[in-house]
Order: sequence, then C-alpha cells, then structure tokens
Amino acid sequence: MIIQPRTRGFICLTAHPDGALQAVKNQIEYVKSKGKIKNGPKKVLVIGASTGFGLSSRIAAAFGSDAATIGVFFEKPASEGKMGTAGWYNSAAFEKEAHAAGLYAKSINGDAFSDDIKRQTIDLIKKDLGQVDLVVYSLASPRRTHPKTGVAYASVLKPIGEPFTNKTVDFHTGVVSDITISPVENEEDIANTIAVMGGEDWKFWIEDLKNAGVLADGVKTVAYSYIGPELTFPIYRNGTIGQAKNDLEKTVTVLNDLLKDLHGVSYVSVNKALVTQSSSAIPVVPLYISLLYKVMKEKGTHEGTIEQMQRLFAGRLYTENGEVPLDADGRIRIDDWEMAEDVQAEVAKYWDKVTTETLPDISDIEGYRKEFFNLFGFEIDGVDYKKDANENVKIPSIE
Ligand code: NAI
Ligand code: NA
Repeated sequence: MIIQPRTRGFICLTAHPDGALQAVKNQIEYVKSKGKIKNGPKKVLVIGASTGFGLSSRIAAAFGSDAATIGVFFEKPASEGKMGTAGWYNSAAFEKEAHAAGLYAKSINGDAFSDDIKRQTIDLIKKDLGQVDLVVYSLASPRRTHPKTGVAYASVLKPIGEPFTNKTVDFHTGVVSDITISPVENEEDIANTIAVMGGEDWKFWIEDLKNAGVLADGVKTVAYSYIGPELTFPIYRNGTIGQAKNDLEKTVTVLNDLLKDLHGVSYVSVNKALVTQSSSAIPVVPLYISLLYKVMKEKGTHEGTIEQMQRLFAGRLYTENGEVPLDADGRIRIDDWEMAEDVQAEVAKYWDKVTTETLPDISDIEGYRKEFFNLFGFEIDGVDYKKDANENVKIPSIE
C-alpha cells in the first residue's frame, strides 16, 4: 500500500517501514563512521529499545562495539489494514541489519513494567547470552501498571505550586501562542508521575536480573534524564516529570549498593533535548527545541539521538582510561553542548523575540517538523514514497 503520514496533534498514526529501514541504516552508517569503541560493551540489554535514545543506544552498542543485543519494547505489528508502529518497523530494520552483519539480536515485545516480561527476558539471556554486561534503561511511558499491586498509574505533565504561562508552538502550523498550564491539584499527581517515570521499575529490573545471576562481573547500567534551561523548569525539571527524574537519579545510589559485589556501577546520563515521540508531547519544550536546533546547527554542535549515544558510549561509559566523567551530583552529562553558556544565551535572546511572524527566521521549526516525521519513517531522503510499501514486516526474532 501507499503509506502517508496521518497526524493527530503530536501523534502520528501511521509509519513507513521503508523509511524506518533507511533511518536505521543512516544511524548505523554514522556509528560505523566513528570507528570502533575501545573496551565497549559486548552483551547488552536495552529496555525501551525501539525508538529514540533506546534505539540509538542499541545501534551504538551493536555497530560500535559488535555487541549482542536484546531489545525490549512495547510496539504493534500491522494488522488488518492498520500500519504497524514506528518502533516495530525500526526494530525489524535493526534486527535485519544486525543479522546481516553477523551480530546476535533478539527482541521481546510487551510491557516492560510487568514481572512476566522481566522473566521472559531473563530466560532469553540465560538461553542465549548467559549474562549481560550493560543494561540500558530507556523507557518513556505515560502509564504503568505496578507489577506487585496491580495499581495502574498515569503520569501528568504539570507544574507544581504556581500556574505556568509561557510561549508554545504548534509545530504543524507554526503558530506561536501563550499557554497557561495549571499546577497539580494534589500530591497524588506527583506520586503517580514518580510511580511511572521514577526509578522503581529500573530497580526491579536490576534486582531481578541480579537474582537470576544474569549480570556479568563489572556490569554497567544507565538510565536517561533531562535538566534543560530555566525557561522550561516550571514544566520540566521543577514540575511533576522533574520529580520523577529526581527519583530516578536517587536510584543510582541504591543500585550501586546492589551491584557492589559484582563490581558493577549504575549511572544516570543527562541527555540533550531532542525530537522524540515523548518530548513532542510536552508543552513549551518543542518551541525551545526548535530554537536550540537553530543555534546548535549554526555553531556546528547539533546532535541527534545517534550522535548523543555514540558520544555517551565512546566518551563517557567506555573511555580509553576507564574513567567515567561525572558532574558534582554524580551524573554523566552529554547535555554539555546544549547547556553551553553561549548556546543558552542565544536561545534566551531568541526566546524573547519569538512570535508566529518571526518563527520561520529565528528558529529551526522546519527541522523540528521534518525530524518529527522522520521518527515515523516519513520524509527520509532517498526513500520512494510513491512505491507500494509492504506494511506486514516481521521482526525476525518474534513469531
Ligand atoms: P521514546 O518515546 O522515543 O522511547 C520510549 C521507548 O520505551 C520505546 O522503545 C517504547 O517502546 C518503550 N516503552 C514505552 N512503554 C513501554 C512499556 N510499558 N514496556 C516496554 N517498552 C515500553 O522516548 P525517548 O525520548 O527516547 O526517552 C527515553 C528516555 O530518555 C526517557 O527516560 C526520557 O525521559 C529520556 N530523555 C529524553 C529526552 C528528549 O528530549 N527526548 C532528553 C533527555 C532524556
Ligand atoms: Na528510547
């Protein structure tokens, strides 16, 4: 069938398998162009492996370090004339390319928050790899069913205390307007968001993997966080999601204790703001990203998820002297180029000036829009979208 983008707000309801394949190939080519990562990981579990930072982590490990990878994600194959999800096509593309390169790659599709998917993953590691030496935790989800209590939590994206008013953009139309977001009404909203996006599930994973004996001596685990500029603090770092990120960052201490006898270490890496399915859902942030992209592209410091993850592996987690550079709070920072003073000063200057009229000139809204469609396999250079596409793509390791 001919597959075209169909959007509803910040969601794209369709995805293009050939575009996804080309996008994955482009990421692989980038990683290869950077050369092999010395002392890199060899057996890697990526939780949240189908899109965004998780997919790029998997590609960086496989093609930068010849790692065997197991990817866990929650995606849908095509069924009855309905397209599969972008993450499904990405994962099919990844496995295809990994297998062609002689690399082990298998995937598990289901709810990573559940005990059942953890058990399936452990069984697969035991059967095929024995142990893993890196666990990447890259889930982004609006809800979580707690595996022990069955309680279903929904996260919210809200400020805490005061209402927050700032500019935001509809990236489809380029209209800039003011938005006011009311603060949480009760502590429960905060607790629910922590339950979904905080560190508990990461801890459950590491506990289960350790108890099953599938973590190698010297194992590393990393989860991803965000800080960003002051202008997004009320909605991000000081908002409900920020409380969840604080909780995730605190989990590092707990996991380091847990991993001590294995000589293992856990890290949180603070990543750059990028266009992903998750970040496009946050108000204000897409406008910030479109200004940030413009400034960083002009300075030649712009990165996408694959550049970030390649740099995380080669320049932070697996450095030649084995040292992992951390900030004063013990976090890895690959948001360093985003947070550079000159970059932030320029973004702040543009922020004051940005209106619907000035947007096309002073922002990279066009780049934002294109990258959004790229996430779903659309507008990828070199792909023939007039050609019939087969939406029934299989992920080789999934029946
Ligand atoms: P994404 O939406 O592209 O990826 C989310 C992944 O989680 C997908 O593989 C999806 O299948 C998987 N997933 C979601 N719910 C699941 C479930 N119940 N079971 C199994 N898999 C499930 O998100 P993105 O942006 O790559 O986010 C990953 C992490 O990076 C998050 O912790 C996010 O906060 C963080 N981060 C994101 C930034 C951004 O600007 N996008 C910046 C800094 C950090
Ligand atoms: Na991800």
